[in-house]
Amino acid sequence: MRSLSSVKMVGGNFLSVILLMEIIVNAFIFGVDGLSMNYYLMSCPFADSIVKNTVNSALQDDPTLAAGLIRMHFHDCFIEGCDGSILIDSTKDNTAEKDSPANLSLRGYEIIDEAKEKLEKQCPGVVSCADIIAMAARDAVFWAGGPVYDIPKGRKDGRRSKIQDTRNLPPPIFNASQLIQMFGQHGLSAQEMVALSGAHTLGVARCSSFKSRLSAVDKDLDSDFAKTLSKTCSAGDNAEQPFDATRNTFDNVYYNGLQSKTGVLASDQTLYASSITKNIVNGYAFNQAMFFFDFQRAMVKMSRLDVKEGSKGEVRQNCHKIN
Ligand code: HEM
Ligand SMILES: *[C@@H]1O[C@H](CO)[C@@H](O)[C@H](O)[C@H]1NC(C)=O
Ligand SMILES: *[C@@H]1O[C@H](CO)[C@@H](O)[C@H](O)[C@H]1NC(C)=O
Repeated sequence: MRSLSSVKMVGGNFLSVILLMEIIVNAFIFGVDGLSMNYYLMSCPFADSIVKNTVNSALQDDPTLAAGLIRMHFHDCFIEGCDGSILIDSTKDNTAEKDSPANLSLRGYEIIDEAKEKLEKQCPGVVSCADIIAMAARDAVFWAGGPVYDIPKGRKDGRRSKIQDTRNLPPPIFNASQLIQMFGQHGLSAQEMVALSGAHTLGVARCSSFKSRLSAVDKDLDSDFAKTLSKTCSAGDNAEQPFDATRNTFDNVYYNGLQSKTGVLASDQTLYASSITKNIVNGYAFNQAMFFFDFQRAMVKMSRLDVKEGSKGEVRQNCHKIN
């Protein structure tokens, strides 16, 4: 009896020590915001799996939407923090982020809506749209063959979405120094910027995003590939060019492309042209596991940008509208 209860005691203490250590370590790695991996443990225990199942079945129907979901998360986080503001519809008094030309064909909104609908049925008013976007991006990365990672939750949805805020997104003509500066303003390093750019392993760019490269001779653009891009553009500004040879597979082929000067955007190729970032590209081209490791860490870091907690935000009932 006694020995049993003392074993229990020791076990209990041991567990709480581990828990305490985890809290301390998390605070160190992530800073002291209130996000946590099991934020919905009590209030909506199946939140993660509901999102995952919704994303998986949508991507089974249309694999190209993985790219859309990942890009949506990036745009959401870079404008006013990861607060779901990218989902807000314009009203007669306000033109939202969504309707900026910089929305550049964001896709996958219907997947977020579907997940939200299911979550509202299970646990009404609990799971924020901002968290749904972050989880959906995670599930899209894994679904496409990328790294698995856990996303901390507890973001609140913002109450502001304005077209003029989209100027905080990097334009595709930025050079490496400009990209480093812009990501730096969000606390992201050059290495993290290069890793996150690796999201361009999925999806496409439209001609309007790269055609300015074709009007002059560009020593950083392979001449055969320049012809490929011109051919794409002959079908118009909205014609799509895959970023790499495997547009629906999350891999490091994007970086191999940069080494052979077949990056699609000027902002892609600059990562190899610049002496500051060239070796990071070489590293990821050589070692996919290193890319995966850095990518998932940078994604989690990005997912914590300027999050709104407590009364600074709300849990939207409908992701398209402020409550
Ligand atoms: C480094 C600065 C970046 C620039 C300048 C940039 C710019 C662009 C542009 C211009 C497009 C094509 C849009 C179009 O023509 O329709 C695009 C697509 C895309 N971007 Fe980025 N991006 C950057 C970083 C990122 C990051 C950090 C992520 C995510 C972590 C990301 C994910 C994507 C994805 C997945 C697509 C393909 C979308 C689709 O196929 O629907 N990008 N990006
Ligand atoms: C993106 O912006 C354009 C206007 O520039 C708008 O016509 C289009 O509907 C927007 N796309 C989405 C998905 O909201
Ligand atoms: C990058 O662009 C900025 C602004 O146009 C320019 O001042 C700078 O010299 C460029 N850097 C490189 C390395 O080309």
